[in-house]
Amino acid sequence: MTRIIGIAGSLRRGSFNAALLRAAQEFVPAGARLDIESIADIPLYNYDMEVNGIPEPVARLKDNIAAANGLLIATPEYNNSIPGVAKNAIDWLTRPPADIPRVFRAKPVAVMGASPGRFGTVMSQNAWLPVLRTLGTRPWFGGRLLVSQAGQMFDADGRLTNEMVRGLLRDFVGGFFEFAGPAAPSPSAPQPSSGHQL
Ligand code: FNR
Repeated sequence: MTRIIGIAGSLRRGSFNAALLRAAQEFVPAGARLDIESIADIPLYNYDMEVNGIPEPVARLKDNIAAANGLLIATPEYNNSIPGVAKNAIDWLTRPPADIPRVFRAKPVAVMGASPGRFGTVMSQNAWLPVLRTLGTRPWFGGRLLVSQAGQMFDADGRLTNEMVRGLLRDFVGGFFEFAGPAAPSPSAPQPSSGHQL
C-alpha cells in the first residue's frame, strides 16, 4: 500500500495549507493513504537540546517519514520564502545528519501551497528546492499546485469548495501517488549521490 505523510507548514488553526492537505485526502487513490502529521510540537532547534536527545515529536515524525513512500508538503509563503516553523521542522528532521539517508534519501517529495495573495506560494515552493536537493530527496516535478486567493477557495469550515482547484488538486494527488507508489527498484537504477555538505 502506498502511504504518504503530509505536513502543513503552518501552526494556524484556520490554516489554508492544512485545509489543502485535508482536501488532498479526498483524492487519495483507493488502497493508498495520506496521513497528516503535525509539526506543532516540534521545538525551536537548539543544538544544546539535541545533545540531550532528539525530542520525541521529532523522532516520531522521522520514523513515520522513513517508513512512508513519500512526503507531501503544503507550504505557506512568508516574505517570499519558507515560513520559519516549516524550516525549523525540516531542520530538526535532519538531525543527526547520519539519519538523513534513512529519512530522506531518494524519498519522493511533492510541494504544494496556498496563499491569500495572487501568486499562490510560487516563491516559497521554489525556496524548498535547495532544501530538497540537499537532503537527496526525489522531488516530483510532474505537476504544480499554486492556490492563490485562498480566502475565496475554501469555505468557513476550511473545505475546498472551488471546483477548478479541486480538479487541479485531484490531478496533483493522483500524479504524485503514482510517482511515489511502491515500484520494484531496478537493480541497475543509479544510486543517489551521498554528497551532503552539512
Ligand atoms: C505572509 N503572507 C504572505 N503571502 C504571500 O503570498 N507571500 C508572502 O510573501 C507572504 N508573506 C507573509 C509574511 C508573514 C510574516 C505572514 C504572517 C504572512 C500571507 C500568508 O500567505 C497567509 O498568512 C497565509 O494564510 C499563511 O498560510 P496558512 O497559515 O493559511 O496556511
